[in-house]
Amino acid sequence: MRTKLIAGNWKMNLTAVQGAALVEDIAKLIHDREDVDVAVCPPYLAIPKVHEAIRRLPIKLGAQDVFWLDSGAYTGKVSARQLYEYGCDFCIVGHSETRGRFGTLGVPESTLPFFAETDETINLKIKSLLYQGITPILCVGETEAEREAGTTEQVIRHQLTDALEGVEPEEMYTLVVAYEPVWAIGTGKVCDANEADRICRQIRSFVAMIADATVAESVRVLYGGSVKADNAKELLAMPDIDGALVGGASLEAEGFAKIVNSA
Ligand code: PGA
Repeated sequence: MRTKLIAGNWKMNLTAVQGAALVEDIAKLIHDREDVDVAVCPPYLAIPKVHEAIRRLPIKLGAQDVFWLDSGAYTGKVSARQLYEYGCDFCIVGHSETRGRFGTLGVPESTLPFFAETDETINLKIKSLLYQGITPILCVGETEAEREAGTTEQVIRHQLTDALEGVEPEEMYTLVVAYEPVWAIGTGKVCDANEADRICRQIRSFVAMIADATVAESVRVLYGGSVKADNAKELLAMPDIDGALVGGASLEAEGFAKIVNSA
């Protein structure tokens, strides 16, 4: 039986002080849900303060990205070892925004190569996180054009295979995969619950092919993309959806706690 995981991706929102206050508020509203794992992924600068705040709270900490080397002349980068020092249990990898695949294009198209995340860098990041004992939350998902072209499964299979290249099956037991259709992120267009469940099941079967059936049964597959308090219950009731990766709705205690309490 997989424990459900509700993870909040704060993206580039909230100050450290606001973040610490938010986790206190969330904790008050979810105190009787010890059966669900809850995590927040603040911006790097808020991690130390949020880490302090969650010491006695039933909330885990995650980061939004990582660089794959331990230390060195890598200006602006943060390593898995540094995240480990601040108690990060999780780290998002391959989010469509760091892949430069935006649901709603919030930046000029010419700047997209700046984000420059590829399946190869994602693979390196996963390996460095696993080495530090941090659980990767690997994001996969298709764009609207890929869905319309009927290539959704092919795109996701490719993303998974490349991301997990060279990772030993026994290292994958705790892995979290988030199915995040790019067209559903920050757009308010949530994926139909049955379709999200179907793709999450498909992801599990791809993991079984890449690793084995036992690993696939233990890997948690989340859905992400416009999850809100009012659609969470239906999504989280699905047999192959093991939780949610929540963006916008994780920035406010009551709404986020409702999502946790729907699990
Ligand atoms: P959203 O973002 O919930 O705001 O759509 C989800 C995500 O980007 O992980």
